[in-house]
Amino acid sequence: MRTLLVTGGAGFIGSNFVHMTRERYPEDHVIVVDKLTYAGNRANLAGTDVEFFEGDICDAALMDRLVGRADVTVHFAAESHNDNSLRDPRPFVDTNLVGTFTILEAVRRHGNRLHHVSTDEVFGDLSLDDPKRFTEETPYNPSSPYSATKAGSDHLVRAWVRSFGLRATISNCSNNYGPYQHIEKFIPRQITNILAGQTPKLYGTGEQVRDWIHVDDHNAAVHLILERGRDGETYNIGADNDHVNNKAVIELICELMDAPGYEHVADRPGHDQRYAMDSTKLREQLGWAPEYTDTQTGMRAGLDQTIDWYRTHEDWWRPAKQQVEQGYAERGQ
Ligand code: NAD
Ligand code: DAU
Repeated sequence: MRTLLVTGGAGFIGSNFVHMTRERYPEDHVIVVDKLTYAGNRANLAGTDVEFFEGDICDAALMDRLVGRADVTVHFAAESHNDNSLRDPRPFVDTNLVGTFTILEAVRRHGNRLHHVSTDEVFGDLSLDDPKRFTEETPYNPSSPYSATKAGSDHLVRAWVRSFGLRATISNCSNNYGPYQHIEKFIPRQITNILAGQTPKLYGTGEQVRDWIHVDDHNAAVHLILERGRDGETYNIGADNDHVNNKAVIELICELMDAPGYEHVADRPGHDQRYAMDSTKLREQLGWAPEYTDTQTGMRAGLDQTIDWYRTHEDWWRPAKQQVEQGYAERGQ
């Protein structure tokens, strides 16, 4: 039996991780710490018997106390939305950098383990005609305040490993989709637009490519890294969807939901063009493979399941919808 401390466990990926942990590892004890920002929702953990603490990962005393009780800390908490980081970068510096530093110091004091959850965006972007994929050796070149603070947090983890012998692993994953994702993000925004009778919104031309992965495939990889990953190592996670652009995704959502069409809106400033992950190391060394795959876009089954979830959970997304759309409308998006 392990005790897992899950930071950001009331957010999108963290809460899915907790649900998967309860199902697949029922003997584990799970502690969740979450600040419950606009992106966190206690209801995401309904039905799970976790020990929940509402708190900030920048609170050194709290983190020392909670990390001290865990065998491993799985660190999901972050400010996660690029568009928000362009408006106000400050919370990104606080949570992603100072918060990760605070956790590292607690783990260093207690000598237990950390898994740090990071993103493919630390590598920057590829041009649309560049067929390369990011490997674990690709140099960091982040574009936005969000990705720069995530890159900084990865550097902090590696420095603590090298300088203090911290026992830590890092994973860098591509764009997730699935249940419980905040409706500010691309896929749930379009699904809930259609459900609310509004037109889906595509930034710019929609040629940008994101290497989409279902959240359960991401979290299965995290569990595998917890079980078999080697301390000090980094693992890329991606489901080989780097041939699917935003236009194709929005068209597929419209098709699956029988919606008449979408509109083009103002592009994101500094919009990253293409992400593509090479997850060979994870596949070959740890034996991971994604389950949500199909021959057409690699996303049809996962999107169907996700659309169904938003259709049956209107009470979950409806209260935030108007405010989210008002924020986008103010920016012509
Ligand atoms: P999210 O925004 O849905 O959830 C973040 C959670 O962290 C929320 O519950 C929020 O309340 C909590 N939080 C924020 N600041 C906090 C603080 N100071 N103290 C405690 N809790 C705090 O994010 P997500 O999409 O679930 O992403 C989770 C992690 O995965 C992040 O580290 C993100 O960088 C990484 N990631 C996300 C994606 C993706 O596609 N969403 C892809 C790769 C990596
Ligand atoms: O790559 C991993 C990253 O994926 C994570 O690290 C981030 O936490 C996560 O938010 C996500 O970042 P993106 O900026 O790629 O995701 P987002 O859902 O905001 O946008 C996906 C793409 O869709 C992007 O090219 C912008 C576009 N978009 C977005 C929105 C909200 C639209 O075309 N229309 C929209 O309404």
